[in-house]
Amino acid sequence: MFHAALFTLYPEMFPGPLGASLSGDALRRQLWALETINIREYGLGKHRAVDDAPAGGGPGMVLRADVVAASLDAGLRPDDARPRLLMSPRGKPLTQTRVRELSAGPGVAIVCGRFEGVDERLIETRGLEEVSIGDYVLSGGEIAAMVLLDACVRLIPGVMGKLESGSDESFESGLLEYPQYTRPRAFEGREIPAVLLSGDHTKIAKWRNDEALRLTRGRRPDLLTERGLK
Ligand code: ADE
Repeated sequence: MFHAALFTLYPEMFPGPLGASLSGDALRRQLWALETINIREYGLGKHRAVDDAPAGGGPGMVLRADVVAASLDAGLRPDDARPRLLMSPRGKPLTQTRVRELSAGPGVAIVCGRFEGVDERLIETRGLEEVSIGDYVLSGGEIAAMVLLDACVRLIPGVMGKLESGSDESFESGLLEYPQYTRPRAFEGREIPAVLLSGDHTKIAKWRNDEALRLTRGRRPDLLTERGLK
C-alpha cells in the first residue's frame, strides 16, 4: 500500500483537503495511508527549539539538521525503501512523470520545510530529494506536500473509476486537454460545436486532437518543443 509519512511542524494541517473527495474516500478505503511525525517532538531544550539563526547572518531562521534528522531516524526504519523528499522552491520541478513513478512505489517520506530553509547537511546526510511544485514561494512545504500526494493518490489503482482513469487528460498525452461541453446544447447563445453532436467518432477524435494542439501551442509551446512537435 502507498504509505505517506509527513515530517512537519504542523501535523494538524493533515489530512486537511486530502481527507475529502477522491483522496479522502481512498484513505477511508485504505487504498493509501498517511502518518504525520511532529518535528517539534524532537526539538531541543525546554522550548523544544527546532530552528536557529543562519550561519553567516541574514534574515529568518533555519531548521536544524540534528532535530529534523532525529525525527527522520525515529520515524523511518533503516531499510525503508520510500523516496525521501524535501518540499522546497529550490527543488526539481514536479512533473506528471515523477508523480507516476512515485505513485507506483511504496509511498513517500516527505519533510515539509519552513522558515528560510533547512540546514544543508540534513539534505546531504539523509539523501533528501528536493521537489518544487512551481516557481512561487509558499509559506511552508505542507501545502506543496498535499499537492504532490493528491497527484499521486489519484493514480493508485482503485482510487479513480475506470471511466475517469485519466489517460485522456492534460499532460498524460503531453498536450493540454481539449475543451469539454455538456448539456444544455445552447448556453447564453453559444452552441456546442456541431462535430461533437455528429456521432462521427473519427471526426470527433480529430477535432479533439486539433483543439489540444491549438491550446498547447497558445499556452504552453514549451510542451510541444519537448515532444518534438515543433
Ligand atoms: N515550499 C515553499 N515553496 C514551495 C514550492 N514552490 N514548492 C515546494 N515546496 C515549497
